Amino acid sequence: MHITDYSEYQIAYQKSLEEPDLFWAEIAEHFHWRKKWNKVLEWNFEEPNVKWFQGAKLNITENCIDRHLEKNGNKIALIWEPNDPSEAHKTYTFIELHKEVCRFANVLKNMGVDKGDRVCIYMPMIPELAFAVLACARIGAVHSVVFAGFSANSLADRINDAGAKLVICSDAMSRGSKQLPLKNVVDEALKTCSTVEKVLVVNRLNWPIHLRNGLDFVYDMEAEKVDENCPATEMDAEDMLFMLYTSGSTGKPKGVVHSTAGYMVYTAYSFLNVFQYDIDDIHFCTADIGWITGHSYILYGPLLNGATTVMFEGVPNHPDPSRFWQLIEKHSVTHFYTAPTAIRSLMQSGTDHLTPFAMHSLKVLGSVGEPINEEAWHWYHVNVGKERCQIVDTWFQTETGGILISALAGISPTRPAHAGQPLPGIHAVLLDSKGNEIEGNDKEGYLCIKFPWPSMLRTTYGDHERCRQTYFSAYKGYYFTGDGARRDENGLYRIIGRVDDVINVSGHRFGTAEIENAVNQNKNVVESAVVGYPHELKGQGIYVYVICQNMPEAAEQNWLRSSIIQTVAEEIGAIAKPDKIQFVSGLPKTRSGKIMRRILRKVAEGDVSNLGDTSTLLDPLVVEEIIIGAVL
Ligand code: WT7
Repeated sequence: MHITDYSEYQIAYQKSLEEPDLFWAEIAEHFHWRKKWNKVLEWNFEEPNVKWFQGAKLNITENCIDRHLEKNGNKIALIWEPNDPSEAHKTYTFIELHKEVCRFANVLKNMGVDKGDRVCIYMPMIPELAFAVLACARIGAVHSVVFAGFSANSLADRINDAGAKLVICSDAMSRGSKQLPLKNVVDEALKTCSTVEKVLVVNRLNWPIHLRNGLDFVYDMEAEKVDENCPATEMDAEDMLFMLYTSGSTGKPKGVVHSTAGYMVYTAYSFLNVFQYDIDDIHFCTADIGWITGHSYILYGPLLNGATTVMFEGVPNHPDPSRFWQLIEKHSVTHFYTAPTAIRSLMQSGTDHLTPFAMHSLKVLGSVGEPINEEAWHWYHVNVGKERCQIVDTWFQTETGGILISALAGISPTRPAHAGQPLPGIHAVLLDSKGNEIEGNDKEGYLCIKFPWPSMLRTTYGDHERCRQTYFSAYKGYYFTGDGARRDENGLYRIIGRVDDVINVSGHRFGTAEIENAVNQNKNVVESAVVGYPHELKGQGIYVYVICQNMPEAAEQNWLRSSIIQTVAEEIGAIAKPDKIQFVSGLPKTRSGKIMRRILRKVAEGDVSNLGDTSTLLDPLVVEEIIIGAVL
């Protein structure tokens, strides 16, 4: 399953198109199955119905941990680095990880968690987060990790949608120079959650917490009651492994569902080949486990390959912008995987913070989450990679589970700002607006995938029709990614960005409707419209047009802005705070009441030279007002 040169890639790609069943069956042979499959693939994109490795029985944690014990039990599986460099780091060998996960799993069982139950995990980047995720997988409970930056309201929505029985959290968390009370947020969220029976609290900062009898349990106390042996629960290939909420073009985030066997096979395969992982490599992915990148390339992908993975609690610029480089040297990191937004923010601090660090261990640099601009690509290449490391720009989505388009490090052609070619098994195509496939190179279109791959989403939790509508109805017979892309002269893909009402802020995805809903919760707001605009650091910034009962006086506008920002932080979380707010007396609407976002986007971008046809607007005069009042 390991591709070692370009011709092998080409052969594998060809084979994956011509004989997909055989291709994936051979890869699947590399895993530990309690029972092998009867059928490699069954599918149609109409319902959609996608099933991989039917009939197979397995547990993914046996593949992540147990099967490495005999040969590599004393190898380090997990290196954990705290937020604060004065605190000691921790390491866990595969043997130790096995014990921790089993113990955690036994605690969950003791608390009444069964196979199929949904467990919501709301935690900072501490080792227990990894244990909790794997413990769920061990006993067949479905984990739903919610990024700890989301507010109580967002957390409650996700708990309720999943019908979670248990919430796992910590007392509090440290992030950069801030400390935040996580257990309090959970308490607040649970006021509107009826399915949650218990809360399990892991101690991180020794904060006093409010413990309610029969509801709240402290992990350390529960862990004393159990041993560190927990046989893995046997799962069917298509049993749900986890769900992960992500935003779409409607107001309500959806729970993207991933199943067991296909996710396992694809994350392991993509990790190995994209990063060209070698036995002694140290992999450092800076994402949070609250996002798909963390699931697939901090935890599952590396562990499935028996790799050493680094988990970092902190942020790039705490206590100073050299933190990443220090960690790379400290742990002899070979693979460093981060987001363009982090690179751009470190770029702002110049290069002095990098000079003392030669980082000889580095071999491969990864980028993920949003398009990486050429300037950031070169800075990364020159200053971090010292012009001797491969860069892989990896394109994927929460829904795709694993990386679909990327160079294989050192093997396939790369070009700045281009993700590159699809991985074997990924039948990527560009479609025009009529749904016809665009042949040939040097072409632009809607990025779609024509054939199933093992780690694709199976459904959106509790609402299969929404899954069909969102991904499989725009172009019949294709999975629609929501991204526009260009295939260059050499067939390398460059991802241009979302073509739906989704914006990507620092690699985090939000629906414009979702932010509008939040803004509208502010009692001063009558109506709002949200668009993205190019932002130097964040990729895209959030621009909000707001209508109030009466046009606010200049003197009122500042506190109104703060109040609206506060509302969004409460409704969604601090990560969705608007960057710019413009008060308007009306929005450019068509006679049928549809907001012409094209105009709003242009104004937010500061480019009003060509607003296109505005003749269908109900009140063309509002456009003038909007242009004059633009916040630039
Ligand atoms: C959207 C998916 C999977 C990574 C974390 C974000 C954008 C992702 C790239 C890239 C250009 C990228 C796309 C995609 N995106 N990676 N390498 N180059 N754009 O996951 O929240 O599900 O967002 O992120 O627009 O559709 P996500």
